[in-house]
Amino acid sequence: MNIGIILAAGEGKRMKSRHAKVLHKICGKPMISYVIEAADNSRMDKIIVVVGHKKEELVEYLKDFDVIIKEQPVDEKSSYGTAFAVSRAIDEVEDNDNVIVLCADTPLVTSDSISSLIEYHVNTKSYATVLTTELEDPTGYGRIISKGNGDLLKIVEDKDATFDEKKIKEINSGIYCFNGRALKESMGKIDNKNKQNEYYLTDTIEILNSEGLKVSAFKINNSEEISGVNSREQLATAAKIMQKRINKFHLDNGVTIVDPDNTYIEPNVIIGYDTVIYPGAIIETNSIIGQDCKIVGNTRIVNSVIGNGCEIESTLIESSTIGSDCHIGPYAHLRPNCKIGNNVKIGNFVEIKNSNIGDNSKAAHLSYVGDADVGKNVNIGCGVVFVNYDGKNKFRSTVEDNAFIGSNSNLIAPVVIEKNGYVAAGSTITDDVNEGDLSIARARQVNIPGWVEKKGLKNHK
Ligand code: UD1
Ligand code: CA
Repeated sequence: MNIGIILAAGEGKRMKSRHAKVLHKICGKPMISYVIEAADNSRMDKIIVVVGHKKEELVEYLKDFDVIIKEQPVDEKSSYGTAFAVSRAIDEVEDNDNVIVLCADTPLVTSDSISSLIEYHVNTKSYATVLTTELEDPTGYGRIISKGNGDLLKIVEDKDATFDEKKIKEINSGIYCFNGRALKESMGKIDNKNKQNEYYLTDTIEILNSEGLKVSAFKINNSEEISGVNSREQLATAAKIMQKRINKFHLDNGVTIVDPDNTYIEPNVIIGYDTVIYPGAIIETNSIIGQDCKIVGNTRIVNSVIGNGCEIESTLIESSTIGSDCHIGPYAHLRPNCKIGNNVKIGNFVEIKNSNIGDNSKAAHLSYVGDADVGKNVNIGCGVVFVNYDGKNKFRSTVEDNAFIGSNSNLIAPVVIEKNGYVAAGSTITDDVNEGDLSIARARQVNIPGWVEKKGLKNHK
């Protein structure tokens, strides 16, 4: 069996955060989720996550994942270190298993590299294989010390390394494949006599070597994959790399991203051919965008579906569905649960919530449409407010096909404007309007001739 052990119990001191380090997000998703996904995609038979520091929120987050959780005690008196963390999961390991150790703070590793590591480990009949890479600046990482013939001898932690060892550029990724039995036996022999008084998993390499068991290094060229996240700066670096990867995926799929450095697309987003995305867009997880769309300005699309040929400018869209050929924005806000038909225009400063808008309808300026069912070919004039809340309860209103709601009207819910109904500008509508009727609900205008002069106000300053 292939057993994945993901270490996530560390304190994450360098993050200076009240939250578990591995829950910090990269492109909208907690970094540990990427590691679990990579492990999953490299076909692990089971995945164990070792939790410790700030475990409550981590365990809560992991509820939705198919993983086994093991706890590492993290009080003052307990031991500490990556080997101690692995020991908490060791009862899940059989002698003949391949045990793949991953760090939850190394979120950029790909399933391809994990699979290749396992394959190399098996093919070379190694007892332990370390995934390594070369870094221009290896500071902070464990260094790979080789025997004269290039074989792996041991790993020395940055803090314990001599001046000469620090110059070595090949580093330990923190990702390994072990034979189950070799791991168990070598772990029993680790001590904590080092600068950090920690039980280092890396010590297993020297121990296995000294017993004449084969240990290997599997070096990958793409060093980005093993970027560890220990600080906010490294979090930002990892996020940049992930952003590039995601954007490249969409570029390769025929999406134009005008400025990939300034376009933020989260994982699991689908975008159709020939859609053009301008800088500043944020497209969050699970959104689907059609073909030939134009996404401009500081647009944020959250968990929404957009049809083909839409133009969206500087707009926030949350958990909503939009048909094809719509014009949205600038500065519109579609709050959750809106269903917008085809060829709809939602213009400047229009807010829509929990509403359906039919094909070819328009709300072009300054409106609030809340809890409404609006039909086809409806015109909602400038400044119309769907008054959906009486201070206690919310009510729905209906505006049927071809209706016309004049500017600056209030529709006090619940109210129905039937087909072809017209509402005169400035009306406050409290009763239903029947099919084809015009409703005027405002005081009649009164003009008083000469009033200004009579009041002596004619040339007032
Ligand atoms: C570790 C490696 C180092 C490697 C680097 C790669 C050791 C001793 N060092 O160093 O060789 O170059 O990763 O990123 O293994 N953890 C626990 N329990 C603990 C301690 C740590 O679960 O008691 C977890 C952390 O949450 C983290 C991972 O193990 O996910 C690595 O721990 P960290 O302290 O970040 O190790 P590094 O100093 O980065
Ligand atoms: Ca680390």
